[in-house]
Amino acid sequence: MEIKNARYEISNARVDQCPDTSVPEYAFIGRSNVGKSSLINMLTANGSLAKTSQKPGKTLLINHFSINNGEWYIVDLPGYGYAARGKDQRDSFRRMISFYATERSQLACLFVLIDVRHEPQKIDLAFLDFCGENGVPIAIVFTKADKVSQRVADHNMSLFRKELLLRWEDLPPMFVTSSEKKTGRDELLDFIEDTNKVWFSCNTDK
Ligand code: GTP
Ligand code: MG
Repeated sequence: MEIKNARYEISNARVDQCPDTSVPEYAFIGRSNVGKSSLINMLTANGSLAKTSQKPGKTLLINHFSINNGEWYIVDLPGYGYAARGKDQRDSFRRMISFYATERSQLACLFVLIDVRHEPQKIDLAFLDFCGENGVPIAIVFTKADKVSQRVADHNMSLFRKELLLRWEDLPPMFVTSSEKKTGRDELLDFIEDTNKVWFSCNTDK
């Protein structure tokens, strides 16, 4: 899959105000600061498309980016679980993310980002459980692979796979990325290309 162009389209606080498109979209979710916006910039080869920050809590809205003249969309979401936000705001983000994941019919795949530096965290496993229970199409993307040795990354990913196999018979697709080193870009774009084909064949009137 080649990305010929990527354009910011719109930001919304509410799922029901998101663009009424009839093409597939790919959203990026995970804990605050896991690298969602950076990964979008890496994939689109546009360092300033999505706003990134060293401080967690940067992305606050549902941001739609049109890819290849509206052929498909990338969606940047706020992170979950940022403690400094306070309970009310955390709850409201959680509701918005859950609603987006379960109600957005254009969602072809939700990429759930996991920081590969850490052993499995409760909050990520709980979010994945929620996706499994609600039939949300997901893939797991381990991020920041440049920040740890291969040995540590392999150890954490294998613990993660074990946790998932306690819950699920089959593992979802998994990718290892570094936005810094552009690792995993081709694999993710190939996956999107394949998923687009399936999505269009299931969603186009014959
Ligand atoms: P929120 O919008 O706050 O939820 O965060 P986010 O998940 O969008 O994270 P963001 O992309 O803003 O990145 C957070 C920090 O991690 C930034 O300082 C990035 O430069 C850094 N970062 C993201 N991905 C990578 C990576 O692959 N490698 C390294 N070394 N740093 C990364
Ligand atoms: Mg962000």
